[in-house]
Parts: sequence; structure tokens; C-alpha cells
Amino acid sequence: MRFAIAALCLSAAVGSAGAAEVGVPERGYLYAEANCTECHAIDRGDYDSPYYGAPAFSEIANVPAMSELALYSFFQTPHPTMPNLIVPPGDIRDLVAYIRSLRK
Ligand code: HEC
Repeated sequence: MRFAIAALCLSAAVGSAGAAEVGVPERGYLYAEANCTECHAIDRGDYDSPYYGAPAFSEIANVPAMSELALYSFFQTPHPTMPNLIVPPGDIRDLVAYIRSLRK
């Protein structure tokens, strides 16, 4: 009995770690389409954000200081202009993967 419970816990831990490793750019795009297009231009080569002052994703991708790490920490703090926008960790990974994929 004790062994069965331990085995269950182990497989659950391994399963979630494996699923969360790598961001999927396509999923990041879908998330951005649903949550960010109100203000940001998110398509490759589109620099015309609907909200004045919101940088286009293609622009963000090519700012040298916007490393993967910088993007991660940015998403872990609330947007200055959008205190309600808290991106779940799994979606952060996908978003970062998408934005990085726009880098020239
Ligand atoms: C209500 C409008 C609005 C929405 C919605 C919005 N943003 Fe922003 N975002 C802004 C504005 C304005 C700025 C630039 C000024 C600032 O940093 O506050 C910004 C800045 C950023 C930056 C930092 C750029 C830099 O150079 O510092 C990133 C990255 C970003 N947004 C990603 C996102 C993502 C991803 C989403 C969707 C999950 C999103 N934003 C949704 C308005 C918005």
C-alpha cells in the first residue's frame, strides 16, 4: 500500500515536470492573440500596435536587452499599465518562446 502511494506521487511529479519544460511558440501566439492584441501588434513584421505606447512584439523580440530572462522576469511582475494581467507560468514559457521566434 505504502509503495503504491509513493509510486503514484513519483509518476505525478515526473509527469508535470516533463510537460512544463519547453515553451511552444504556436501556443504562445494563441495566448497572445486572446490576451494581448487589444494593445500590442503581435504578428511578425507588424509594428503598428493598437495602443499607443505598447511596443510591437516584433520590436520587443529585437531589443538586445530583452533576453529570455528579462522577458521571464517582466511577466512575473504585473504590467505597469495592466495590474490585472498575471500570466500563468506555463503560458509565460509559451509567450517567451513565441516572442523569441520573432527575433531577426
Ligand atoms: C491594456 C493594454 C495592454 C495589454 C492588454 C498588454 N500590454 Fe503589454 N504593454 C502595454 C504597454 C502600454 C507597454 C509599454 C509601457 C509599459 O511598459 O508599461 C507594454 C509593455 C509590454 C512589454 C515590455 C516591453 C519593453 O520593452 O519593456 C512586454 C514584453 C509586453 N507588454 C507583453 C505583453 C503580453 C505578452 C501581453 C498579453 C499577455 C500584453 N503585453 C498585454 C500595454 C498592454
